Amino acid sequence: MVGAEDPETFFETAPPLRDADAVRTKLQEFNARNSIISAGGVDRRPTVCVTSGGTTVPLEQRCVRYIDNFSSGHRGAASTEYFLKAGYAVIFLHRRGSCQPYCRFLPDDSFLKFLDVNEESKVQVAESHQTAVKESIWDYCKVGYGGGSLLKLQFTTIFEYLQLLRMVATSVSTVGQRGMFYLAAAVSDFYVPWDSMAKHKIQSAGGPPEMRLSQVPKMLAVLRDQWAPLAFCVSFKLETNSDILVQKADMALNKYKMNIVVANLLATYKEQVIIVTNGARNTVRRRNSDEDLEEQIIKLLAQKHSKYICGSQMDATRVQTEL
Ligand code: PMT
Repeated sequence: MVGAEDPETFFETAPPLRDADAVRTKLQEFNARNSIISAGGVDRRPTVCVTSGGTTVPLEQRCVRYIDNFSSGHRGAASTEYFLKAGYAVIFLHRRGSCQPYCRFLPDDSFLKFLDVNEESKVQVAESHQTAVKESIWDYCKVGYGGGSLLKLQFTTIFEYLQLLRMVATSVSTVGQRGMFYLAAAVSDFYVPWDSMAKHKIQSAGGPPEMRLSQVPKMLAVLRDQWAPLAFCVSFKLETNSDILVQKADMALNKYKMNIVVANLLATYKEQVIIVTNGARNTVRRRNSDEDLEEQIIKLLAQKHSKYICGSQMDATRVQTEL
């Protein structure tokens, strides 16, 4: 494995995003839709970018094989629902095929379980699932699914993810402190640079392949310092060893100047997280099996974000008064 690359080299050598122009247009339309025109001028709804699911690392340019990780995207999808409920406009940057907001209850094997055929041979929602489906459709309609306050963007590879994150960050930076990043995606730490990758399928006849992995540059620093310096940034820290979890979260908080780090362990991430801020650690636990842990997490984050916005407005007023 070779040392960490700088972010510019990563972007210069990455295969360019195929639909970059279409994404740019979608972001502009999303911004316009979520601007509120009032007597005082144009105001903007608080906007959050939720990243969700895992990035892949291709091993071949015409990719047959890739390195992947375990993330299902459930945390990102559930969090998106609660952010929308809290009045946020949400950019849901997610792995293709991963868990989707308002569809989390669908069974893994087949949605056919939700349907049956009545006496007149018409397809209908099975009686046992009526309530769940009705509630999801109501929520789905309320947010103007596919338009309105939810924008969905998809990635598969680490190359796509980081290029999209940069575009989204530049766009979210236009709302200043009202912007939030909620970085729940499991992002690859190591990758094969595009120009040193096999062009075609690696042949087994050649024996076990030897390849050098490079370190993916940590984009948290770039996000904070360059792409969206005023945004409220929440990153995640996943570890398997409880002895180092909080210490690593503290390090990320200070090194990357995050506002909050949500720390979780692989063994218990569905049941509890630790919200780490400067000087405080708050454990949030799922209270029962019907409750989403994300409901409590988003409630807490929305409160902290709101304080952050108010704090910066008060600072601005103080400066004006002093002038
Ligand atoms: O999707 P689920 O199955 O519901 O699982 C949810 C989850 C466990 C994946 C989620 O809760 C979580 O912890 N996500 C972050 C996992 C992770 O990649 O942790 P990390 O310690 O490797 O990275 C820490 C932070 O650095 C992350 O916010 C990541 O976005 C960021 N990062 C990582 C690598 C990299 N090269 N650049 C980055 O900016």
